[in-house]
Amino acid sequence: MVANITSVRHDFPILNTRLPNGQPLVYLDSGASAQRPQSVINKISEIYEHYYSNVHRGVHQLGDRVTSEMEASRSRIQAFIGASTPEEIIFTSGTTMSINLIAQTWGRHFLNGGDEIILNEMEHHANFVPWQAIAKERGAVLKFIPLTPDGRLDLEQYQSLLSPKTKLVAVTGMSNVLGTINPVEEMAQRAHEVGALIFVDGAQSVPHQPVHVVDSEIDFLAFSGHKLFGPSGIGVLYGRKKILETLPPFLYGGNMISEVHCDHSSWAQIPARFEAGTPAITEAIALGTAIDYVTELGFDAIQEQEHILSQYALQKLQEVPGLQIYGPQELEHRGAIFSFNIAGAHPEDLATLLDRKGIAVRHGHHCTMPLHQHLKIAASVRASLTFYNTTEEIDALIDALEFARKRLRLA
Ligand SMILES: Cc1ncc(COP(=O)(O)O)c(C=O)c1O
Repeated sequence: MVANITSVRHDFPILNTRLPNGQPLVYLDSGASAQRPQSVINKISEIYEHYYSNVHRGVHQLGDRVTSEMEASRSRIQAFIGASTPEEIIFTSGTTMSINLIAQTWGRHFLNGGDEIILNEMEHHANFVPWQAIAKERGAVLKFIPLTPDGRLDLEQYQSLLSPKTKLVAVTGMSNVLGTINPVEEMAQRAHEVGALIFVDGAQSVPHQPVHVVDSEIDFLAFSGHKLFGPSGIGVLYGRKKILETLPPFLYGGNMISEVHCDHSSWAQIPARFEAGTPAITEAIALGTAIDYVTELGFDAIQEQEHILSQYALQKLQEVPGLQIYGPQELEHRGAIFSFNIAGAHPEDLATLLDRKGIAVRHGHHCTMPLHQHLKIAASVRASLTFYNTTEEIDALIDALEFARKRLRLA
């Protein structure tokens, strides 16, 4: 384990608890929701115990404090992703809402019949269905970048799909099933050459690799607090200021207006224009605390540890008889997410038997039905790792898979 993260597990109280069946928890489901460090838990309690109130409204001292903390969190997020100004950071309920926000505002405003959106089959439904719906509504066309046999985007084919008709490329930074890390910087450059915008779904990539939206020329980026060691119910939409300023509101109500009259209303500047109603105040502030935690640990240490784990997991999983891992086999193209099947075993049976041994994994289609259709499978088991996991936990997974194989009479 990397030197400066040897004590990291102590920061996450849940990792040291025992499950109701007495087993120690082996949490291999951080891709669904990561766990939170004590500092985030403490921050949430601190706010509720000492200064919770609504934001952007009262002049009283509590209101002042939460407003300034929430805006400080916005600035921390700006710095974390390399955005130009805090106004480019919009608090949403999560990645799903961030994507819907742009699909419903930019899409409805700028998409016309015959325009094209470039997608691909590895996208999570959150970065798939909103584009499909708005394309149908506006008469736009979806084009799909083919996948290579090892689960990467075929960049030559991507190039040939781009044309002046392309208005948007929507792509995940890291696949939540294949683990594939997509070359978003290169894809952004190519999209911009034909005048298209790029939307990056950072739900899986932002917690695991540094991002700089300006340097990488990313127009829109979405991510979720609960996958970034922060609270659930909070997420971020980054959008380039020049673009956001041209967009109409998404939701209407309090906080997002400039003036309201009986016969018309006008809209607030960004980001308030896209933050109607009372936001998830505590969560927005505590997301800043989670980002502080990640920043302090540093992506060098995080990536070093995840590399060690990925190398070990890939090797060990490949030794399990009948086990097939989906996605790139070379570590340089993938993150620490391993989806697999074992010949003759139903993924739900595997996940249930692993749970008996205290191993928390996910099974199902992982909100990627088109990808599972592409792979010609109905479901898979997914172990998703992060910096607080250990090689001993991977050994526990391998032992539990052996137990499951015996139970299912595959061994
Ligand atoms: C790649 C990807 N995109 C989007 C989402 C949706 O995130 P949320 O449910 O936080 O909106 C997920 C969640 O698993 C994901 O893995």
